[in-house]
Amino acid sequence: MNPLLEVKDLEIAFKKDRAFIPTVRGVNFQVFPGEMLGIVGESGCGKSVTSLGVMGLLPKEFSKLGNHSEILFEGKSLKHLSDVEYRHYRGNEMAMIFQDPMSSLNPVFTIGFQMIEMITAHLKLSKKAAKTRAVDMLKKVGIPRAESVVNEYPHQLSGGMRQRVMIAMALSCNPKLLIADEPTTALDVTIQAQILDLMKKLQKEYQTAVMLITHDLGVVAEVCDRVIVMYAGKVVEEAEVAEIFNAPKHPYTVGLMNSIPSLTDEKERLDAITGSVPLPEEMPAGCPFAPRCAHATDLCFSEEPVTVNVGPKHYTSCWLYSGEGREAADGRAFSRT
Ligand SMILES: Nc1ncnc2c1ncn2[C@@H]1O[C@H](COP(=O)(O)OP(=O)(O)OP(=O)(O)O)[C@@H](O)[C@H]1O
Ligand SMILES: [Mg+2]
Repeated sequence: MNPLLEVKDLEIAFKKDRAFIPTVRGVNFQVFPGEMLGIVGESGCGKSVTSLGVMGLLPKEFSKLGNHSEILFEGKSLKHLSDVEYRHYRGNEMAMIFQDPMSSLNPVFTIGFQMIEMITAHLKLSKKAAKTRAVDMLKKVGIPRAESVVNEYPHQLSGGMRQRVMIAMALSCNPKLLIADEPTTALDVTIQAQILDLMKKLQKEYQTAVMLITHDLGVVAEVCDRVIVMYAGKVVEEAEVAEIFNAPKHPYTVGLMNSIPSLTDEKERLDAITGSVPLPEEMPAGCPFAPRCAHATDLCFSEEPVTVNVGPKHYTSCWLYSGEGREAADGRAFSRT
C-alpha cells in the first residue's frame, strides 16, 4: 500500500537571535491510509512542531524547512505550495485538532457559523445544505440537542463538548488525514475515554488516517495501530503497537513504559525518567538521550546512533542495537525493570 503521507528527513529550525536553531532534526515517518499512528514523547520533543510543519502552519518568517526535507501527500510534494494551495489541502485533504479547543474556536461566532464557513469553503454546498451537514456531524460526534447547539457560542459548551465540536468540524469535509494534537489532555479521564472511543469509531467509519499525538502510552496502547516515539526532535523508535509493548528497544521507550501507572503490578510503576529533554539550543553531541540513559557508553556521547531494524517493521536509533554499540554494551543486562 502506498503511504498517504510521507515525511522525509524533516528538519525545522526556528529563528532565535538571528540564528536558526534546529528543532526537528531529520524526522522520517509514513502514515498509511486508514491507520491510526501514535506519536509519543515528552514535552518539547517536537511533536507539535512536526505536525504544524505537515499542515503548513509554521510561522514563515521565523522558521525554516531543511533543503532536503520532503512532505509528500499521496506522492505530491507539499513543500513549495503557495498559501492558497496549502489552504486547499487543509480541510479537504487533512485537518488538525488542537489541544485547547477554545483557542481554535472563535468565541464571537456561533458553532454553526464556524462550521458552515468551514464546510462551504471546502465543499460545494449551499449555506442551507452546509447547516444540515453541520448538524449531522454534531450528532455523529454525540452532541445532544445538536439542532440548538449549532446556534450556541463556544463558551456555552463544556470542554468535552467543545472538543467534540472540533472533531465534528475537522471531519466535516471528509479529510483523508486527521492530525489530533493531544486532543484529550485538557479533559477529565472519563471524557478522555469517550473522545478516544469516538475518534476510533469515526476513523473506522470514514477510513480516515489519524496521527494521534499524546504524552500517554496508555492511550496509544488502546487506540493506535502503530507508534513512533520522538525524543529531542528525532524519531528514536517506530513499530506496531503490539510489538513496541512486547519488545520496546530504545531505553527512552522503556523509560516511558515504566512510567505508565499499573493497577496489576505489585510495585508502583511510576519511575519517571530522571532529567529532562534538552532544549534545541543546548543539544548535546552524540545521542541526545545519552545524558539520561543508564546504558550510555562513550560512543553514545560522541556519535549520533544510526537507525537499525530490530524486529518486524520495528526500527530504533540506539547504539545498543547497532554493531559497534552492541559490542561496547556487551555483557550489560538490558531489560525492562
Ligand atoms: N514558534 C516557535 N519558535 C521557536 N521555538 C519553538 C516554536 N514552537 C516550538 N518551539 C520549540 O520547539 C521545541 C519542540 O516544541 P513542540 O511544541 O513541538 O513540543 P511537543 O513535543 O509538542 O511538546 P508538548 O508535549 O509539550 O506539546 C520546543 O523546544 C519548543 O520550545
Ligand atoms: Mg505539543
